Amino acid sequence: MPSLSDDNRTRLVKAIASQRRPTVTVLSSLLAAQDELGYLPDEAINEVATLMDTTINEVWGVASFYTNFRFTPPGKHAVEVCWGPTCHLQGAAWILQRVLGELGLEGEGETASGGVSFKFNTCLGACSQAPVMSVDHHLTGKLTPDSAVEKIQEVQQPS
Ligand code: FES
Repeated sequence: MPSLSDDNRTRLVKAIASQRRPTVTVLSSLLAAQDELGYLPDEAINEVATLMDTTINEVWGVASFYTNFRFTPPGKHAVEVCWGPTCHLQGAAWILQRVLGELGLEGEGETASGGVSFKFNTCLGACSQAPVMSVDHHLTGKLTPDSAVEKIQEVQQPS
């Protein structure tokens, strides 16, 4: 994996070192790093180990335990489709099928171009608008398979 740019390394070190909380832990430091960079590169693991005066293995143990940490850079755009109970009853399966087809994916992950990160979500908190998806953290409800694909195509248009 390529190493971080100097700018990203500076952001990483600053984010880990400037946590405003009463207790700084390995977990809080990993969260700070991921909030800043969107993922945990090897350098983040090393920096957290140094800051917390612990081993790289110890930090990896914490990082690998939580499924919300990611170790590769996210795509430029984030797409989440809800497959919670309400959305499921309102046709989320059809939305998922079309969205995954549009992205060329079979499940969660990044598109081949790296332009989109796709995730399932168990409830986006807008059940009354089911079926719902989130594109770059903006919710859209009352989706149809066609309108879901249109949303994804809109965000991928060159600006
Ligand atoms: S179940 Fe889909 S938004 Fe709640």
